[in-house]
Amino acid sequence: MQAILDEIVATIGASDERGHVADYIPQLACVDPKQFAITVAMADGRVFSAGHSDQLFSIQSISKVFTLTIALGKLGGAVWSRVGREPSGDPFNSIVQLEHEQGKPRNPFINAGAIAIVDAILMGHQPKETLGEILQFVRFIADDDSISIDEKVALSELSTGDRNASLAHFMASFGRMENPVDCVLGTYFHHCSIAMNTHQLAKAGLFLVDNGRNPVTGIRVVSTERARRINSLMLMCGHYDGSGEFAFRVGLPGKSGVGGGILAVAPGKASIAVWSPGLDEVGNSKLGTEALEKLVQHTGWSIFG
Ligand code: DON
Repeated sequence: MQAILDEIVATIGASDERGHVADYIPQLACVDPKQFAITVAMADGRVFSAGHSDQLFSIQSISKVFTLTIALGKLGGAVWSRVGREPSGDPFNSIVQLEHEQGKPRNPFINAGAIAIVDAILMGHQPKETLGEILQFVRFIADDDSISIDEKVALSELSTGDRNASLAHFMASFGRMENPVDCVLGTYFHHCSIAMNTHQLAKAGLFLVDNGRNPVTGIRVVSTERARRINSLMLMCGHYDGSGEFAFRVGLPGKSGVGGGILAVAPGKASIAVWSPGLDEVGNSKLGTEALEKLVQHTGWSIFG
């Protein structure tokens, strides 16, 4: 495995065609696009890394896997009255479907859906309390208490968050928000701004590798059925309007973020985190996707055989 990762870093990680960093969040526009990291946390406890795997980056929409997991824990099946579970086929920040579907987002991973999920888990609490809960959960599943929120990124998102504010207010106009929109948005921007490295992120995904149980510690995080469903949503919706392409090329449940990270799950085998800040035209890490494609070719881990 180490030889495979070293080869991926030496070839894909050194590519000149790196995509473009997200510039609609000013703090993300400052990130050096030349960085690249990959970590594979195996179900047997071994962890392999190559590249800048100690470098923290903004996990952005990957955090939506964690907030969905928390929401399912708090609300159970009632989550599905707040968001759907269909691929949207539209960009991650699109507003068009919301009007046709009475303010109910297609799935929990597009921005509107993740904002609705935050509204669901706030339950009248202060944003600080809910953020504390989200952070505690991420630290627990990654087994790393050093994980925190990059306040600069959160404030940067807030200062340019007109599209997300529009999505939230539009949903509120359908009577779909239970908490003040500003509290929901503040919480959403902050959980997107959690900073992690690929080592921490790969470890955080381990509970999805073994039917909801961390295969290394033996600690159960969610039920088998819930893990299966989270993985299915990652496969169908985790890359927005690029989800079909990701399933075609990589064949693993995965969730991307505009910080350039991708968390992918090879059921029964490993949790994989990759980071390369340059994005493709739909907002998914360009080299990150290529690296996962290569890894799956070497390992045969695609869920489609
Ligand atoms: O709300 C936003 O636009 C960002 N905080 C998250 C977007 C994101 O990561 C979409 N990913 N590909």
